Amino acid sequence: MKSKKVIPNSDSLVDESIPEAKWQQAVALSEIAIGDRYLFREGKRRIALFRVARDEFYAIDDACPHEGYPLIKGSVDGKTLTCQWHNFKFELSSGNA
Ligand code: FES
Repeated sequence: MKSKKVIPNSDSLVDESIPEAKWQQAVALSEIAIGDRYLFREGKRRIALFRVARDEFYAIDDACPHEGYPLIKGSVDGKTLTCQWHNFKFELSSGNA
């Protein structure tokens, strides 16, 4: 599973690996509190965005690779996301299970 660190840019979030012309605003920073998550769509993809610290955000596909449960419903402890269906754990910083 891939995860991406997204960087706050004044009042929005950007993915630093994407050329500026392809940036897409997902959410205003004021709409996602530290420790909270936000679900948005990019075309047909559902992306789960997690804010783990003041300036630290991670975005992942909102489907567990095991059986597709929505990861937005998972629990987060530090940077570890746990799928609520079968308790698989993922590191948000790397996407590794
Ligand atoms: S669907 Fe996530 S652990 Fe099974």
